[in-house]
Amino acid sequence: MPLVRSTELLQHARAARFAVGAFNADNMEIVQAIVEAACEERAPVILQVSGPAIRYAGLALLTGIVKTAAAEADVPVVLHLDHGDSLEQNVLALRAGFTSLMFDGSRLPYTDNVAITKQIAHLAHIAGVPVEAELGKVLHKGAAPEDVAGALTDPDEAADFVARTGCDSLAVAVGSVHAMTAQEARLDVERVRAIATRVSIPLVLHGSSGVQPESVVAAIAEGVCKVNVSTYIKQTFVAELRAAMDASPAEVDFRKLFAPARAAAKERVREKLRLFGASGRISGTGDFRSPPTLHPGVHIPTGDVE
Ligand code: G3H
Ligand code: ZN
Repeated sequence: MPLVRSTELLQHARAARFAVGAFNADNMEIVQAIVEAACEERAPVILQVSGPAIRYAGLALLTGIVKTAAAEADVPVVLHLDHGDSLEQNVLALRAGFTSLMFDGSRLPYTDNVAITKQIAHLAHIAGVPVEAELGKVLHKGAAPEDVAGALTDPDEAADFVARTGCDSLAVAVGSVHAMTAQEARLDVERVRAIATRVSIPLVLHGSSGVQPESVVAAIAEGVCKVNVSTYIKQTFVAELRAAMDASPAEVDFRKLFAPARAAAKERVREKLRLFGASGRISGTGDFRSPPTLHPGVHIPTGDVE
């Protein structure tokens, strides 16, 4: 089916207390693994493309791969910009047909994050496309514990940020760290609850690969509706690829090496979809095939053209 927006999926997830899995789409094999897993689990799914992925594969090619995979799928698929770093990048993604955007202004001063997020949300809403923003900072592997603690999202500031920007979902810093290779972190679930009581939009968990599974489940129960996963899937893909290469050192047909890696990645995606409670959730996701809701200021002429 055609790509769908994340809006209705995340609202349904919020109401039904599950999370939509958002997996990073970096190449064809991973896109296939994610979409096949979602179809087998009967789960809606978000494929997200980051700046580094665009630099690696090219925006048009990667977008084309995701759109084609979505067209062949019988579950709702969203194409989302992950950690968009500028207005320009968001506009290019919008033009390329992304059905969900993100501006990550978490490293900017608060007022700049508000101003740019608001501008992007205004533009995206004209086209009926939702925008995820980030407040607090989800840091990267190797960050000192005191830095992680100092970058957590403040619930009152989150309420102010959402009211001022009009963003549609909010990535929050609640104890996770990007790119961890062991599931060790515990989330500040009380903070998730405090944020969720102050903002009515879906909350997003980044850096989930390094979080203990039961802590992710607890955060979903408190209002996390989208969980981003990348490293966990890459780890499996690379481990299986290495094993295949070690088992057949003379093999030069890389398809024979990639195939088991892709199959293993698919199983990891299925595992995460089940953990997030997303399996079997394709019904009740709203009328996601309806045309985008245009910004109220946009006038569509309906009368005779003179
Ligand atoms: O935006 C992408 C994610 O937050 C992925 O984080 O690689 O730690 O799972 P992860
Ligand atoms: Zn992230």
